[in-house]
Amino acid sequence: MCGIVAAVAARNIVPVLIEGLTRLEYRGYDSAGLALLKPTLTRLRSVGRVAELALQANGQTAHHGIAHTRWATHGVPSERNAHPHVSAGLAVVHNGIIENYVELRRELLAAGYVFTSDTDTEVIAHLIQHTLQSAPDLFAAVRLAIARLTGAYAIAVLREGDDGIVVARHGAPLLLGLGTDGNYAASDAAALLQVTRRMIYLEDGDVAEIRGDAVRIVGAGGTAARVPADRPVHESTLSADDVELGDYRHYMQKEIFEQPQALAATLEMIGGAQTLSPNLFGVAAPEMLSGVRSVLILACGTSYHSGLVARYWIEQLAGIPCSVEIASEYRYRVSVPNPEQLVVAISQSGETADTLASVKHARALGMGRTLAICNVPESAIVRECALRFLTRAGPEIGVASTKAFTTQLAALFLLAVTLAKQAGRLSAEQEAEHLAALRHLPVAVQKVLALEPEIKAWAARFADKQHALFLGRGHHYPIALEGALKLKEISYIHAEGYPAGELKHGPLALVDKDMPVISIAPNDALLEKLKSNLKEVAARGGELYVFADADSAVDAEDGVHVLRLPEHYGLLSPVLHVVPLQLLSYHVALVKGTDVDKPRNLAKSVTVE
Ligand code: F6R
Repeated sequence: MCGIVAAVAARNIVPVLIEGLTRLEYRGYDSAGLALLKPTLTRLRSVGRVAELALQANGQTAHHGIAHTRWATHGVPSERNAHPHVSAGLAVVHNGIIENYVELRRELLAAGYVFTSDTDTEVIAHLIQHTLQSAPDLFAAVRLAIARLTGAYAIAVLREGDDGIVVARHGAPLLLGLGTDGNYAASDAAALLQVTRRMIYLEDGDVAEIRGDAVRIVGAGGTAARVPADRPVHESTLSADDVELGDYRHYMQKEIFEQPQALAATLEMIGGAQTLSPNLFGVAAPEMLSGVRSVLILACGTSYHSGLVARYWIEQLAGIPCSVEIASEYRYRVSVPNPEQLVVAISQSGETADTLASVKHARALGMGRTLAICNVPESAIVRECALRFLTRAGPEIGVASTKAFTTQLAALFLLAVTLAKQAGRLSAEQEAEHLAALRHLPVAVQKVLALEPEIKAWAARFADKQHALFLGRGHHYPIALEGALKLKEISYIHAEGYPAGELKHGPLALVDKDMPVISIAPNDALLEKLKSNLKEVAARGGELYVFADADSAVDAEDGVHVLRLPEHYGLLSPVLHVVPLQLLSYHVALVKGTDVDKPRNLAKSVTVE
C-alpha cells in the first residue's frame, strides 16, 4: 500500500519520479505527489491518478526529489492529505501506519507545530524537524525520530540545503537502486528498472542516505552496514516486458493470458524429473519436512483460497491434517500451538502485513517449521520463513490476483506430493503420474483460455445484475469462493461462493430470476450430487451458468447454460476451472466499464493491518 520513489541524480529526475510512481500505482491510487529541491522545496500534489500529477509536473526539472502514490488510511483521499507532508523546508513520504501518531501529534502540537492534514505521516515530518534541533544532521535526526515511532513504515525524507535523501524502513518494503548517474530508492524494483537493475534490499531497521555518488546504510543496531558484505547488490532479472502492458488492454487480461508461461516457469525446477526432492523447498527442507504430522496454512484473500484447495490435496494425498486460517484471524486468536506442525504462509507480494504477522505469531508460539510460498524473492515473508518456494509468475500488477493464484496452486500441489511421499503414501508410478499432470498444466490452461469468446458472450448478461452466487463442491468449492471474489472486486457485483450442498441451508432463499448462479461442474465423483443441487436452483427459476468438463453429463436446457472445458483434469482440475471465472469477471468488468486494474477502494500489496 502506497508507493515511494526517491532520486538524487545528475539527470533531471522528475520524469524518473513520474515513471516510478506509474509503476507503483498498483500499490495505491487515491492521490499522488512529489517534492523537489530546486534548491528550495517545491511540492506538487493531486487527488487521483499519477497521470494528473504528471500534467502538473510537466516542464519541472530537479536533481533531488521524492514522490508518493497513496492508498488512504488516515484521512480521506484529498489534496491536503496527499503526500509529501512538509515541515519548514523538510518533506516526507511514507508507506505504512504510525500507531502512536495521536500521542506524538499531541506532543508536537504542544511544541507549537501546526498540522494541515489528517494523516499520521505529518507527525513524522514535524517529529524529524523537531529532532533536528538537537541532532547534528538529517541522517541523525531521522534515526532518533524513528526510534519514537510505533508501527510499520518506509519513509523518504529530503530537506532544503541537504545533498542527500534519507530513507528508512521498518515493516514495509524499500530498496535502493544504484545507478550510473545517481542513486535511487523505491518500494519495489519495477519502479527503478528505467534507471538501473542494481538493487539493494534494505532490512528492517535500516536507515540509508542516497546521494548522487554514494549510498550509506546504518542497520538497526547502529553500525554501518557494508555494501556488498552486509547488504548484497542484486542484479534484477525483471525485463521491461514483464512490467509493460504490450498489446493487452489491461494488466489483468495480460496476467490471465500469461498463466501458461507462469506455470511453466514455476514448474521449471522439476524439469523432466520422475521423482521429487524436498530440497525444492530449501536446503533445510529434508530435515524440517520429515516427520511433519500436520499443516497449518496462513494467508489472506486469493492466497487464502489457494490454501483451501491445498487442504483437500494434502489431506487426500499425504493423509495428514491440514487447517487453513485467514491470517488476520489467526494472529489475534488464542490457538493451540503445535511445534511439530508445518506452517505454510502463502502470499503473492510477500509483504501482506497480516500474513507476515501471523507467521511471526506462529514462530513466537514455538512453531519454527515455516515455509513461504511466495512470488517475490527477498520479500519480508520469504525472509521470515525457514523454507521457501518461489512461484515464478513474474510481476503481478493488476490488483485482482490471477496468475499468482494458479502458480500458488502448482507449488502447493508439489508440497502435497512431497508430503505424501514422505508419509510413504505414494508409489513411484503415482508420483510420476502427478508430475506428468503438473507438467501438462500449461498446455491444458492454454486450451481453457481459448474459451474466451464464449465467456465474453456470457458476460454481457451479468452487467445489469446486482448479485451472483458461485457454487462448487469438494476442491472446487474454494474455486467458487475465488470466482465470487474476482467478480465482486472488479465489477462491484455482490457475489458469494458456496459449497453447492449448503445451498438448501439458507442461500437458496435468494434465488430468483435476477440471481445468476454460476456453477463449477467437473466430471468428478461429486458431479451427480452437484446436479441435484443445480436442480434445486432451476426449480426456483434461477438462471444457471455451468462450467462443465467435456465429458460432464450436464445438458444445456431452458435457463441452464453450459460451457465445457476441454478435458477433465483430476486432482489438478481447480487450476483449470478458475481460469474461466477470471475471464468472466474480467469481461463483466469491461461491460460495466469499471477500472479493471485499479478497482475502487483497493490496492495491491496490503502492508497495513
Ligand atoms: C484478490 C487479491 C487479494 C490478495 C490478498 C493477499 O484478487 O489480490 O485478496 O490475494 O490481499 O495478498 P498476497 O497474496 O500478496 O499476500
